[in-house]
Amino acid sequence: MNNMELPFIREMFETIAPRYDFLNRLLSLRQDIVWRRNMVRAMRIPPGGRVLDAACGTGDVAIEIYRRKGPDAQVIGADFSQEMLRLGKAKIKPAVKSGSVELLAADAFDLPFKPGTFDAVTIAFGIRNIAGKLSVLKNFHDHLKPGGMLLVLELSTPEKGLMLDLYMFYFNKILPLIGWFFSKNLKAYQYLPASVLNFPCAAEFAAMMGRAGFCDVQWKKMTMGIVTLYRGRKNEE
Ligand SMILES: C[S@@+](CC[C@H](N)C(=O)[O-])C[C@H]1O[C@@H](n2cnc3c(N)ncnc32)[C@H](O)[C@@H]1O
Repeated sequence: MNNMELPFIREMFETIAPRYDFLNRLLSLRQDIVWRRNMVRAMRIPPGGRVLDAACGTGDVAIEIYRRKGPDAQVIGADFSQEMLRLGKAKIKPAVKSGSVELLAADAFDLPFKPGTFDAVTIAFGIRNIAGKLSVLKNFHDHLKPGGMLLVLELSTPEKGLMLDLYMFYFNKILPLIGWFFSKNLKAYQYLPASVLNFPCAAEFAAMMGRAGFCDVQWKKMTMGIVTLYRGRKNEE
């Protein structure tokens, strides 16, 4: 299956790439660093394990895996935006021992690896942008070794109450303006809240992971429900 929104999404990330890290820190009040760290803390891999970070963007998750798991872990970041990758490679060079982390151009639908290659697959703030979520989840499942782990970190909508009202106001009114001011791309920062609001609720997404073949699927909400970490495992054979 193809990602219908693919050309628009790729083009959007190519344009906002130079401001992407700065705006992430600003718009999340630096919580994005904590969210990624929590995802990597939840990851279990054997010594020297192989990890794929899909939709790796500028490499923040890949760098965090290197920091937490050490230089023996082999991390591959894959993204279809050349500009995000270029900025990521420049960041990785001084931060990482050579050979431990590699970033390459690849679409999450069409990964250039043999099935059963990875001990873990991660995707942070990427699955929301992918129209064919179920097929991409199945693809991740195929690329995991038996017993391997999938971790998905994604923005989510708080359930109800004051937090939901504040969130909606910030997300729909304030965030697009800040995004537009710094990136000059209003469409991208209008698309961001729309893509989060359209994302399935945690139970639905977890069920989708189950349909893609994952077992022991769990999720954990963070920061009053504005981010959710999902994890699941591929069955031991
Ligand atoms: C919001 S950014 C997240 C980047 C990074 N994971 C992070 O934590 O900051 C989403 C990334 O997904 C990438 N992306 C979206 N759809 C993709 C696809 N089908 N295949 C590969 N990369 C994709 C975009 O190019 C972009 O870099």
